[in-house]
Order: sequence, then C-alpha cells, then structure tokens
Amino acid sequence: MEKKLAVVGLGYVGLPLALTYVLGGFQVAGIDVDVHRVQAIRSASLGMREDFDGVPVNDVLRKCLADGNLVVTSMFSSLPRDIETYIITVGIPIDDDWSLDMSMLASACRSLGQLLKRGDLVICRSTVPVGTTRGLVMPALEEASGLKAGVDFDLAYSSERIAEGRAYEEFRTMPLVVGGINSHSLERAAEVLGAINTKPVFKASSIELVEAAKMFENAQRDVNIAVANQVARFANRFDIPAWELIDACNTHSRVKILAPGIGVGGHCIPYASPYLFGSLADVAEREELLPTFVSARQANAAQPAYIAGRMAQALHGTSGRRVLFVGIAMKDYSDDVTVSPAVVLARTLKDMGAVVHVLDDIADIPAGFDRETDLRAAVRWAQAAVLPIRQSGVDYEMLRELVLEAQGGLCVCDFRGIFRDDPGFAGQPWYMRL
Ligand SMILES: NC(=O)c1ccc[n+]([C@@H]2O[C@H](COP(=O)([O-])OP(=O)(O)OC[C@H]3O[C@@H](n4cnc5c(N)ncnc54)[C@H](O)[C@@H]3O)[C@@H](O)[C@H]2O)c1
Repeated sequence: MEKKLAVVGLGYVGLPLALTYVLGGFQVAGIDVDVHRVQAIRSASLGMREDFDGVPVNDVLRKCLADGNLVVTSMFSSLPRDIETYIITVGIPIDDDWSLDMSMLASACRSLGQLLKRGDLVICRSTVPVGTTRGLVMPALEEASGLKAGVDFDLAYSSERIAEGRAYEEFRTMPLVVGGINSHSLERAAEVLGAINTKPVFKASSIELVEAAKMFENAQRDVNIAVANQVARFANRFDIPAWELIDACNTHSRVKILAPGIGVGGHCIPYASPYLFGSLADVAEREELLPTFVSARQANAAQPAYIAGRMAQALHGTSGRRVLFVGIAMKDYSDDVTVSPAVVLARTLKDMGAVVHVLDDIADIPAGFDRETDLRAAVRWAQAAVLPIRQSGVDYEMLRELVLEAQGGLCVCDFRGIFRDDPGFAGQPWYMRL
C-alpha cells in the first residue's frame, strides 16, 4: 500500500483524520471548498479542541505543514495527481423539517470524479442514509470520471464513529466497520483503515449494512436519551427527584437509564434518526418500521421547550427576566454549538421575553446573546442561572459561593445535577433540578 492519500472535507472529522494519517507515516493532501477553513488550517489557527497525545491540534498541524507531509487546498484541481486513495468526509446537513441536503456530498463526488484514475480507491466515511454510496456517490463518481466502480476503480464505505475532542485516540482505537462494492475494494479499504487503527476491522457483507449500522448506533442512543428525559418528566410531575429515581432504578444490575438533560445536540445523535427516515421516502413506512425512533426524536427535539415551560413556572414568568447561561455548548466540555439544546433553550427563553446572557469561554456565543466573561459580575446581574452542561473554565466552587451569598435571590436551574448533593441547595425553592 502506498502511504499517500487525500481527505475530501476538512471539518471536525476530516482534519484530525488527515493529521492522524500524517502521524502514521502518510503523505496527505486535504481539500475543502471552504476557503476560510483552508486559510485557518494553513495558518494553524483552528478553534478546534483536539489534541494528539497531549499536543494541541494547531501545534501538530504546524509541524505537519512545515514538514511538507500535509498539503491543503480549496481546489480539487490543485490536488497532487499521484494520489490513489481518497477518503470523503463531507457532511449532509439536515434542515428543521428533517429533510437532508445531499448537495455537498454530490458536489464533492462530482469534483472528485473529474480527477479519478483507473486503479484509484474511494472510501466514503460521511454518515449517510442507506443506499447513498451505491445510489449517489457511485453514479456521481462514474459519471464525472467515465470509469466504472468495481471495474476501473474501487469503492468502499466505512462509518465514522469518533467523538469530537477524542478524535486522535478514537481513530486509533475505535473498531471500524467497512463494506465494499466488491471484495477487492473491501480488502483494500480495510488495509487503508487499519493502517492507523489498532483494532481488527469488521468486514461487512455489504456497503448498505455498514451505512445502516452507523445510523442505528446513534439512533439507539437517541432513544436511550429520550427514555431518561421521559423518566425525568414523569418524576417532575410527581415531585420525585429524577436523578435519585434513576439512581434507584440503576441499582438493578440489568437496568441502565442515562442521565436526563435538556435535550441532545451535536453532529451525530440528532441526525441519526432523520438519516434513517431519509432512507425511507414513504412517511407511513417510517411510522410502521421505526415508531420508537420517530417518537424518541420528537421527544428529544421538544425537550428544550418543555424545560423552558418549567423554567417559566419556576421564575413566575419569563418576560424581562435576566437569565445567565453558564455554558452553551452542545455537551459537557465541548466547544461545539451545533444543534446545541442549550442554544435552543436560550432562544426559546429569549422569544418568551427573557434577557439572556451567556458565559462560555470555550464555545462561540451564538448571535443575539451578550457574552459574559466575569462569573461574579454575571451572577450578580442575573435573576436565574442556567447550568445546561459542565464547561471548562467555570469555577463551580465560586459559583456555589455566589449562589449561597445571594440567599435565594437567584434561581439556579441545574440541569446537570452539579449541586444536587449539596445540602445548601437540595430542597431550596430557588433550586431547580430535573
Ligand atoms: N463531528 C463528529 O464528531 C462526527 C462523528 C462521526 C461521524 N461524523 C460524520 O462525519 C461527516 C463529517 O462531519 P464533520 O463534523 O467533519 O462535518 P463538518 O461540517 O465539520 O465538515 C465537513 C467539511 O466538508 C467541507 N465540504 C463541504 N462540501 C465540500 C465539497 N464539495 N468538497 C470538499 N469539502 C467540502 C465543508 O466545508 C466542511 O469543512 C458527517 O457525515 C458527520 O455526520 C461526524
């Protein structure tokens, strides 16, 4: 195997993947149509929170670029011509109505097809509805190249399973599943994937099986989160502390209910069920085959609105209320606000008349909210503090002292249960938890 490849799409997955291959001894070319992204990569000034065995992503990037082992471009025509392996990692955005925007993937395949040569290998790693590799990727590559998949070039699909912030570790240790258009494609792709991964590669009987497996891995987590949130809703209805209820259930050795929260965000879980639904054009068929996944997605999508309703009760209305979000990212310790339920909750409260400020040193503050940088000043300004996640840089001990100093003047909405065992908080009328 030649230790040379190109990565198409240099986002949260593609860029760390490219660097992992460079650190594994490969020469890598990266292509991304977003010129700002390419500039940020070239100047090693990414806001991304990935590290490579403790070395920050920008330091690794700087070295890989300086050594000439990574080249990046925004033009397909500038990719080196001697590359034989291409890995596609562009995304498929989902609109509010759960419709899928396949245009980026289609465009990437058409552009790549124009470069494709006899003997090349294309591995798609984007998360896609079942049938996309054979039904969209393959024809786009074939049409643009004039070549035939499985005859003139190899084609495979392997799902991407990393969690942001742990990319380098998981590219090397998360087991991989791969399917190929034929056995030659399968074996060749498994070799490329295995070159940076220490675990045996699961060679599946078809591409479609691997596409489906990826969706069910994430969709199952959507269902489990919906279960936890519905346990919490039920508990709230009967004024039972939800966390304690879940702890009690989980003492059963075969029960594992997750922690409840204000919803679920990020690039993966909220998208998994819509990808599943996107595999079934007929809505009635979706309802028939996947009712649990449909209702779990609806429940998780509605969770921020439910939480906003509970907050409105606790605050005796939201109009004009000064609400401070301590953390806005989509999950604990993340810099990512993609589909963040905290953002949805903040927007909902704002629409309900609240004045919302946000303190988060790690994530970008979405448009429309004032940023707070000083916890003490922010807490003194606020009438309510919302803790949707745990976030780096927040001094929770100081927050605790400020809350207790306020002597009930601040409503604390602790949706991560950060202070749930604190005797100063438990049972107080100003302390709201799930
Ligand atoms: N982020 C994660 O943790 C994660 C984990 C597992 C799987 N995935 C899946 O991996 C895929 C990539 O996710 P991501 O988070 O890196 O997305 P992303 O949006 O961060 O990155 C995608 C990149 O592709 C680029 N792009 C778009 N069209 C292009 C084109 N025609 N040619 C070249 N580049 C193009 C975009 O500019 C962007 O930089 C998605 O399918 C996602 O569902 C993501």
